[in-house]
Amino acid sequence: MNNPKRYTITAALPYANGPLHIGHMAGVYIPADIYVKYLRLRKKDVLFVCGTDEHGAAITLKAKKDGVSPQKIVDAYYGIIDRSFKDFGIDFDIFHRTSTPVHHETAQAFFLKLIEKDTFEVRESEQYFDEEAGQFLADRYITGTCPKCGHDGAYGDQCENCGSTLSPIELIDPKSTLSGTKPVLRKTSHWFLPLNKHEDWLRDWLENGKLNGSQQHDPAAWKRQVIGQCKSWIDGGLQPRAMTRDLDWGVKVPLENADGKVLYVWLDAPIGYISATKAWAEKNGKDWEPYWKGEDIKMVHFLAKDNIVFHCIIFPTLLKEHGEFNLPDNVPANEFLNLEGKKISTSRNWAVWLHEYMEDFPGREDELRYVLNAIAPEFRDSEFTWADYQSRVNNELVAILGNFVNRTLVLTHKFFDGKTPGAQSHLLKEMGRTDGSEEILAVRREMEKTIESYRFREAQSALMSLARFGNKLLTETEPWKLAKESKEKAGAVLNLCLQITANISILGMPFLPFTCGRLIKLLGIEEMDWDRSGNTDLLPEGHAINTPELLFKRVEDEEVAAQLEKLRRDDDQPKNTEHMPQKETVAFDDFMKMDIRTATILEAERVPKTDKLLKLQLDTGLDKRTVVSGIAEYYAPEDLPGKKVSVLMNLAPRKIRGVESQGMILMAEDETGRLSFVQPGDEAPNGSYVK
Ligand code: 2FM
Ligand code: ZN
Repeated sequence: MNNPKRYTITAALPYANGPLHIGHMAGVYIPADIYVKYLRLRKKDVLFVCGTDEHGAAITLKAKKDGVSPQKIVDAYYGIIDRSFKDFGIDFDIFHRTSTPVHHETAQAFFLKLIEKDTFEVRESEQYFDEEAGQFLADRYITGTCPKCGHDGAYGDQCENCGSTLSPIELIDPKSTLSGTKPVLRKTSHWFLPLNKHEDWLRDWLENGKLNGSQQHDPAAWKRQVIGQCKSWIDGGLQPRAMTRDLDWGVKVPLENADGKVLYVWLDAPIGYISATKAWAEKNGKDWEPYWKGEDIKMVHFLAKDNIVFHCIIFPTLLKEHGEFNLPDNVPANEFLNLEGKKISTSRNWAVWLHEYMEDFPGREDELRYVLNAIAPEFRDSEFTWADYQSRVNNELVAILGNFVNRTLVLTHKFFDGKTPGAQSHLLKEMGRTDGSEEILAVRREMEKTIESYRFREAQSALMSLARFGNKLLTETEPWKLAKESKEKAGAVLNLCLQITANISILGMPFLPFTCGRLIKLLGIEEMDWDRSGNTDLLPEGHAINTPELLFKRVEDEEVAAQLEKLRRDDDQPKNTEHMPQKETVAFDDFMKMDIRTATILEAERVPKTDKLLKLQLDTGLDKRTVVSGIAEYYAPEDLPGKKVSVLMNLAPRKIRGVESQGMILMAEDETGRLSFVQPGDEAPNGSYVK
């Protein structure tokens, strides 16, 4: 869409069961906020909504564990999360909550409309019920012995020992993880969204941008990995998904005989974007509908890769079925941010928490915004380390941007009494220099191009190139020396440096809002629109600037050491591994019977009609072979070729969903059930023994 009248920008609703960490910021909220700040500077009509997702089994479980009500949990975390967003300058028009009446009403009305349209299939099934806890159990909350391999820690949906997809009723000796008791089977019915009936239009919409025969979005503007992930889901065959759950916390299913049933997250959280819009409109005397319905809206959802399928397949299907709402124009999802070589984990406290950063680095919010944007996982997973944080702050913000601005302001005070000298482009020319206008305009254009294609890292680099240009100018012309020979020439240089500084205060605003706010004060100017940037006449001759002060502080080695120490200390805390006791002793000879080797994944694809299985082609050093692995929830197939893995070679071949699996990939499983590869180093060629 070339010139939309309105922009509706959403950021994934964080669960209100824990505080925010740097992964949330780098993955979702900083990119969204940069985009929105940019649009606002361009005077666009933009609405930026978010809120807390306050429902779901994770919240009720936490409440049970802490011995408080779910409401208490979500109230507490709403406050903490909202505070963190404000502290870091994430500027939502509204930060709403899914526990509010307007949200419940909106989600229920949406559901009823879909009932009216006959969107769902109601299916009855038998599900496990925990009589002691008094509730039906989600598949992950049931464990037992795997009927296929005898492993006794299998989950209700899958045995991660043998990779089999299970249904909870297949488990031998099932146990509820809530109460430890044996659950009983009870009949229950749910509303299913038959996604299998929607494959054709979804494919056309995602791959060609076509909806009902007309062009709705430009697929070339979407990230390749987003379309790739969706395509691989559709290629694998979409399956009906239950849109309701048996739970007593959430948006009630608004039908008779539906006691104890709530709308599942798919029909709850994303509708939170709509209800937030309504609440915002109500509060501000506006109309909410023009932000959701009509031709001239650009709707962009910011989120991380674990929510891609949700926003590109399930939510669009619901919106299309409903019939009145627009579908997204883009979903520029990010990948994941790791921390010091490991996945960020809330349960293991392996994270940099925003509220703790604020305590340890007060007044240095932009430094974190800057570093997180510089390393944002825009196209692949990336990594935060404290050493890199220190080096980017010291070598880029302090040494380049801060140094340039400080030198410019100090020299202006020293030689021109704090007054902007006049522009003298002919003198700059005489000195063999340009008047800077082309360079500044080129930076502005580059930033526009990259921001509009969701490449915020590049946009920030372009901004820094302006400071580099200014620094080079100062270093090469040495106005402090020049002032002794020709004050006019020194004035010509400083005028340009001041104009560059004023441009930075505009162009930098989406990235470094606190710093640019300070810069505006130092320059003694009002905040200017984006359209003023790219010019060298922002400060008139004689304009007085304020006394310089440093924009950034160096990060000291001790500060880095203290952060690393804190991470390690927290990581040493006992883990929640009581449900992962040591297995019984095995004889050495039994262990040695296993032929485990290093291998490289050559190709990966989904096993059709399954959610969890990937079919992998391996180079094992001995041969090329196929292995089926239950890792689809944790790895996208397109990310796998080239990864080194360890594989149990002499496991008896098994047919899994019609595919013969010749071995098993070794995976590490944490206490939350999350899987990650047991990876050999690059030194071990394919076929090396693992022992
Ligand atoms: O995955 C999550 O974090 C959920 N709270 C859903 C976020 S997306 C939503 F808001 F649509
Ligand atoms: Zn098994």
